[in-house]
Amino acid sequence: MAVARLFWVMAIAGALIWAAVIGTLIYATRERRRVQSEHAAGLLILWGGAIIPALLLGLLLGYALWLMPDIRPWSAPGEPAGLRIEVEGEQFWWRVRYHPADGPPVDAANEIRLPVGERVEFTLTSSDVIHSFWIPVLGGKMDMIPGRTNRLTLRAAKTGTYRGPCTEFCGTSHALMAFSVVVMEPDAFRDWLADEARPSPGAGAPGGELFIANGCPACHTVRGTEATGAVGPDLSHVGSRETLAAGIMPVDVEAIASFISKPDAIKPGAQMPAFGMLPEADIAAIAAYLEGLK
Ligand code: CUA
Repeated sequence: MAVARLFWVMAIAGALIWAAVIGTLIYATRERRRVQSEHAAGLLILWGGAIIPALLLGLLLGYALWLMPDIRPWSAPGEPAGLRIEVEGEQFWWRVRYHPADGPPVDAANEIRLPVGERVEFTLTSSDVIHSFWIPVLGGKMDMIPGRTNRLTLRAAKTGTYRGPCTEFCGTSHALMAFSVVVMEPDAFRDWLADEARPSPGAGAPGGELFIANGCPACHTVRGTEATGAVGPDLSHVGSRETLAAGIMPVDVEAIASFISKPDAIKPGAQMPAFGMLPEADIAAIAAYLEGLK
């Protein structure tokens, strides 16, 4: 909101100053033809010669600086730090890490949950190529650049579930790289985050042994198990997410099984190797296990 207000004030004031300067110039040139008017020369110095424009632009600068506390993406010294969420773009998914003000970080992927009405700071980066983070409904958009951390602050006004696409062409599956944003009541959000930090109740279910025996832990983490890989998306509580594979499929056993057998056919360029050579029953068991991680 503050940015939109600043934009309109700047645009309208800029247009008025431009019109006044050009108007004075035209007036002064015409006057000059008739008489060497001192009046026109004076006007020219005042308007064309930038004394008044400089003063007005100074006022606008003051206004912008005065608005800065509302639009700066970082917390001021002494201001209580709020929730910070680190998001890293990967080909072609999102690594998400919540940094609550009071507690250890919590890892997740491909879905972002936010408390309604609170200022949340995002730190955005990329591990491979340039991606871009955008939640159209909330207005924030910022590039994710390898080797650099960009900051963005958002405050969601309404609860609901929204979609965020990647908005920088980043490879063959750029169009298949999205995430969901779930805006929750602050108390519900805090309960959810506390649950998210704990191992899923489904972590001991059958199918988990197959997940481990087939090498999935080399890339994936499931909190509370020996799976602690960090190459691919964190799968703790994957069954409770809105979507699978970065916004492209529902989270059900069938979709998970098909992604395990042929990830590259569903998401061209995905780093995950295909596991189609496993017995169908094993794939189904692993899929059921993952779907049960709520
Ligand atoms: Cu990531 Cu486009």
